Amino acid sequence: MNNNPIVFRKPRASDGHAVHRLISQCPPLDQNSVYCNLLQCTDFCDTSIAAVTADDTPVGFISGYRPPARPDTLFIWQVALHPDWRGKGIALEMLTRLFARQEDIKALETTISPGNLASETLFKRFFDQHQMQVSETLLFSSEDHFASQHDDEVLYRGSQASA
Ligand SMILES: CC(C)(COP(=O)(O)OP(=O)(O)OC[C@H]1O[C@@H](n2cnc3c(N)ncnc32)[C@H](O)[C@@H]1OP(=O)(O)O)[C@@H](O)C(=O)NCCC(=O)NCCS
Repeated sequence: MNNNPIVFRKPRASDGHAVHRLISQCPPLDQNSVYCNLLQCTDFCDTSIAAVTADDTPVGFISGYRPPARPDTLFIWQVALHPDWRGKGIALEMLTRLFARQEDIKALETTISPGNLASETLFKRFFDQHQMQVSETLLFSSEDHFASQHDDEVLYRGSQASA
């Protein structure tokens, strides 16, 4: 554990490999390919954010995108924070900063597997802070979509009053 200041910035290609390693240290997140993480850090850098230490090492990462059919929505794919840095509000700050830098945005979506208390609490805090109305629907079911090899993924959509 250390007390270095954290810097929040857009990810870039040079972060791709470190992000891949970070995700591997953050179960229960699914591991994707380095190539996928590189695309998140480049093509999707406007809808993603990195939290880096003073020596520019990524210790936190959020990947996201704006679904083509719902461009006013930020969909959060994964949130990862290195275990040494947890419990300091860094994930909530990443989420807050990422949402704040979106233009023409009305809603935030994510999926959470039932029982991921850390994720449920993080997003509840975000939705509460932004006074969003939240809906919950089963998006991908374990049986129907994952051949029972993965938990359900429940879609949470938080939208601002006018959305
Ligand atoms: C989820 C995760 C990103 C949280 O990071 P973090 O920086 O420790 O979270 P924060 O400090 O910003 O906490 C935000 C809120 O969530 C709560 N929270 C965080 N971890 C928690 C846990 N393990 N259990 C219960 N609540 C938790 C905090 O208490 C806080 O709520 P509060 O302000 O009401 O107290 C981190 O634990 C992680 O990377 N986990 C593994 C990967 C994962 O599950 N990602 C989420 C799915 S996309």
